Amino acid sequence: QEVHAAEMERTFIAIKPDGVQRGLIAEIVSRFERKGFKLVAIKLVVPSKEFAQKHYDDLKERPFFNGLCEFLSSGPVLAMVWEGEGVIKYGRKLIGATDPQKSEPGTIRGDLAVVVGRNIIHGSDGPETAKNEINLWFEPQELVSYTSNAEKWVY
Ligand code: TYD
Repeated sequence: QEVHAAEMERTFIAIKPDGVQRGLIAEIVSRFERKGFKLVAIKLVVPSKEFAQKHYDDLKERPFFNGLCEFLSSGPVLAMVWEGEGVIKYGRKLIGATDPQKSEPGTIRGDLAVVVGRNIIHGSDGPETAKNEINLWFEPQELVSYTSNAEKWVY
């Protein structure tokens, strides 16, 4: 029996300009792939500062908001949508704690980053933000629905 992907959970994951420029795209994509999650959208974009402000709207009252938006819009960001059972919560687990000094070894930030302002990756923190962020970064036709034979061995 095929597992149909249509109603599968999706999350928005982005490799920030530091991760892209440090050459960590393959390393990071690989961790999501090996886990068994499925890539359904991907593109390299340089977001405007206004776009970054929209993305981080929830943080607009925080003192680091301006620097954060400057940073996110400073270069190419690899925007992705990943799909799979539990992908929102487990994606956050793969990423690790916000502050890389507190991220566990074995997590992306724990293994590959040192400071909170350069923590290389973003991942949606819940179903509502996942939906909003996917809609903000992608047009519906950029999301590719397909059945992967590999899913038979994951689920
Ligand atoms: P947040 O949404 O709290 O964390 P996460 O990315 O883990 O969901 O914060 C968004 C980004 O803001 C975070 O990845 C890095 C930056 N940031 C700072 O620069 N300083 C801070 O003190 C915090 C909390 C976040």
